[in-house]
Amino acid sequence: MHAIVVEKPGGPEALVWAEVPDPEPGAGEVVVEITAAAVNRADVMQRQGFYPPPAGAPPYIGLECAGVIAAVGADVAGHHVGERVCALLAGGGYAERVVLPAGQLLPVPRGMSLQEAASLPEVACTVWSNVVDIARLRQGRTLLVHGGGGGIGTFAIQLGKALGATVIVTARERKHEQLLALGADLAIDYTSADFVEATRDFTEGHGADVILDIIGAKYLARNIAALAMDGHIVTIGMQGGRTGELDFGALMAKRGSISATTLRARPAKDKARIVRGVRDQVWPLIDAGAIRPIIDRTIPMAQAAEAHRLMESSDHLGKIVLLP
Ligand SMILES: NC(=O)c1ccc[n+]([C@@H]2O[C@H](COP(=O)([O-])OP(=O)(O)OC[C@H]3O[C@@H](n4cnc5c(N)ncnc54)[C@H](OP(=O)(O)O)[C@@H]3O)[C@@H](O)[C@H]2O)c1
Repeated sequence: MHAIVVEKPGGPEALVWAEVPDPEPGAGEVVVEITAAAVNRADVMQRQGFYPPPAGAPPYIGLECAGVIAAVGADVAGHHVGERVCALLAGGGYAERVVLPAGQLLPVPRGMSLQEAASLPEVACTVWSNVVDIARLRQGRTLLVHGGGGGIGTFAIQLGKALGATVIVTARERKHEQLLALGADLAIDYTSADFVEATRDFTEGHGADVILDIIGAKYLARNIAALAMDGHIVTIGMQGGRTGELDFGALMAKRGSISATTLRARPAKDKARIVRGVRDQVWPLIDAGAIRPIIDRTIPMAQAAEAHRLMESSDHLGKIVLLP
């Protein structure tokens, strides 16, 4: 088969479409013939050599895909060759075929194309596991989403609204109209406005009950300042640095919590639990049309370099999908 390989970690030009060995399913695994895969910010870090795949994962980049099951290993129940699926991956999505634990398969949502379905597993699992499973967002609460225009952000807006929460986002101004149309109640241009003040004003001093944070160090103090009493910050990215100073006094005054998680490094059993939670709680919302895939554009997989340039420019809105 063909896959995108990284000949030498570096810029987008490091991504090369090359012939590689075909994957074989082990016990509990399936092989999926990929129709579409989607790009995630972490893919850029892997290309640069800063985010190696976890042990046992395919060496190629790519955290989600959709396609058709091509082979089923021993001890796999409930799946068959020819089944249309989408999947959460620990790696290997930028390829014509990928092997993965069967517990990471999800059904293709009702009426959805494989191209659309490919854009959902990683963002759905990340957002649900942090915002719902950990931070317990529910109706009537306020969710602040940093990076509202990204793949994670556009999904988080829709999940927050579907759960009956008020959703505030930070994003550059030119994305605001589309994010408000997606359901965001307030969009803050982080380049010109103070999100702490804007969040406090909008919530009449209450603050955000849950903050989905992709910035890390640079926003630590301000996230605590924007937090409601008993609120929860869930940090999933370090786009603003990894080392910050935590003011325990400020956090205690809010009776606040901070969690920091990464989905990719979780063991397969843990991922399967999250995938089950997403299938039970999020897929019905997608089937009902309350959450839809937001795809900026599709790009041939052999031109993955172009997709990475776009992601690094942050000029996309939602997801970038690759077609092998
Ligand atoms: N821990 C995990 O398990 C996990 C899983 C998936 C993703 N992530 C992380 O989640 C983050 C988002 O991923 P993604 O795939 O959705 O990337 P993405 O599509 O590139 O979205 C990120 C967006 O953040 C915005 N942004 C940049 N600086 C910002 C700032 N200071 N304040 C607010 N927004 C800012 C950019 O848009 P504008 O500047 O144009 O508004 C950009 O489009 C990444 O850091 C990724 O590593 C973590």
